[in-house]
Amino acid sequence: MNRPSLHASYQATPYPSRPVPLSHPDHLYVVGRLHGLAPAPLTGARVLELGCGAGGNLLPMAATLPEGRFLGIDLSERQIHMAQAAAQAANLDNVEFRAGDALALEASLTSPLVSFPAVAGGGQGFDYIILHGLYSWVPRDVQAALLPLCARLLAPNGMIYISYNTYPGWHMRGLVRELMLRAGGGAASPAERADQARAALDNLIPAYAQADDGYATSLAEEKARVDDMEDSFLLHDLLEVENHPVYVDDFLARAGAADLQFISEANVAASREENFSPEARRQLAALDDLADREQCIDFILNRSFRQTVLCADGAAVQRQIAPGWLHDLYLASPLRPMGQDPDGGPGEAFFATPDGGRIGLTAPSAIAALNHLALLWPDFMAFGKLAETVGDGAIVAQLVIDLYPRNWLDLLPRSPFFTTTPGPLPKATALARSQIGQGELVTDLRHRSVTITDISTRQLLPLMDGRTDRSALLAAIAGFETRDPTLAADAAPEVLLDAVLQQLAERCLLVQ
Ligand SMILES: C[S@@+](CC[C@H](N)C(=O)[O-])C[C@H]1O[C@@H](n2cnc3c(N)ncnc32)[C@H](O)[C@@H]1O
Repeated sequence: MNRPSLHASYQATPYPSRPVPLSHPDHLYVVGRLHGLAPAPLTGARVLELGCGAGGNLLPMAATLPEGRFLGIDLSERQIHMAQAAAQAANLDNVEFRAGDALALEASLTSPLVSFPAVAGGGQGFDYIILHGLYSWVPRDVQAALLPLCARLLAPNGMIYISYNTYPGWHMRGLVRELMLRAGGGAASPAERADQARAALDNLIPAYAQADDGYATSLAEEKARVDDMEDSFLLHDLLEVENHPVYVDDFLARAGAADLQFISEANVAASREENFSPEARRQLAALDDLADREQCIDFILNRSFRQTVLCADGAAVQRQIAPGWLHDLYLASPLRPMGQDPDGGPGEAFFATPDGGRIGLTAPSAIAALNHLALLWPDFMAFGKLAETVGDGAIVAQLVIDLYPRNWLDLLPRSPFFTTTPGPLPKATALARSQIGQGELVTDLRHRSVTITDISTRQLLPLMDGRTDRSALLAAIAGFETRDPTLAADAAPEVLLDAVLQQLAERCLLVQ
């Protein structure tokens, strides 16, 4: 089979480099706090990403943590050059990108480094280490070396975010991979390989006659996933030369051997018992060993991918959230008030959940707290301020304990970097202003990719540098040759500007 080496593959086809919200140090800090740890403060945090690709994850972190220091390493020089160019275009001088093998990093860190003096020469290590999409897509010997490497590079209270493909979910995906690899093996170019691989899957589905059994359903699901992938994702995620999924119990045994331990999935809800059926809860409750429990969850869910947070073995990880850990956090909630329901109990108020359900609450201060957060959404409020507003810190703590593990409440370790009320000198980050010049995808200030298609916003965003006032923005609108047909199309420039600013603020794109 004619398959390019890993290095050649990423040189030929760069991986689409995007932010990964669950890997942001803001989020990792919250995960650590909720498990009783004392993660490194975000101000001045030292962050390392191994296999950082073209920097789509690290660059926006550097933009929203200006006092942090960031180092990204990737095997592919082409992607590293893209990352360096993007850092320069966004005026980011707190992030450094280096081409090279992650396993050779330690040797270079022992020489004095201007940008990472604390790490050089046996210094304190990195506070946050991120590996997204690396662990399962490297040769087995590299895979085996990665966790020990992270353990050696980690600061004493540091945290590791690591994603990887898992069995049992990858068994079905692996079947599709094998089919597609065989079909695309002789292709002359990456594009041809992707085409031939897609055709093989397209041909298999009608060839299987039992249209409504489990195999047909699984194949249809895999095909829908493949159809949604750009070639640049498909060629790496599914067809990369190296692809080694693991069972989570094996992964956690390897973490233990490297003196690391499991804190939680980055999506805390993923391991919380309240999100499982009563029977699943009964079975999970019978398992004392953490790795057995996590493995049982993966069999129940047929999980194919994990985003796991680890820390050093010696840290005292707590599995029950204590109210006292929450006081320095900031809260937001997407729950929407629905008022009372005649069928509800006395004083019961209902809130709509983002997944289309609802919850009922009776404690007046809990209802008041959620009403408050609903008015502010997507903005955050400091725990202490909310507790003072509703006059009951214990109830606010209980809301966090009940709602966060169900993803009905968001937490941040600091006042948000975005504002929901645009000021007279609106500002987007230099990174977002540079990204909009290159396409429709921009990273918002909650570390998510957002698509901006409307012409007026695309024209105005690059001008929002924090020095251009409303009158200058209005003058710019007057000069626009094309106006967006969907956004305040025929409106006066003032109305259009307000509409654009409101939309940017709601989408967390304006800097505080
Ligand atoms: C699937 S991509 C993920 C890139 C990025 N983390 C993301 O999620 O967009 C895997 C990346 O790991 C890099 N890589 C593979 N082996 C590596 C190694 N030994 N050292 C450093 N980078 C490596 C590849 O060049 C590629 O950019």
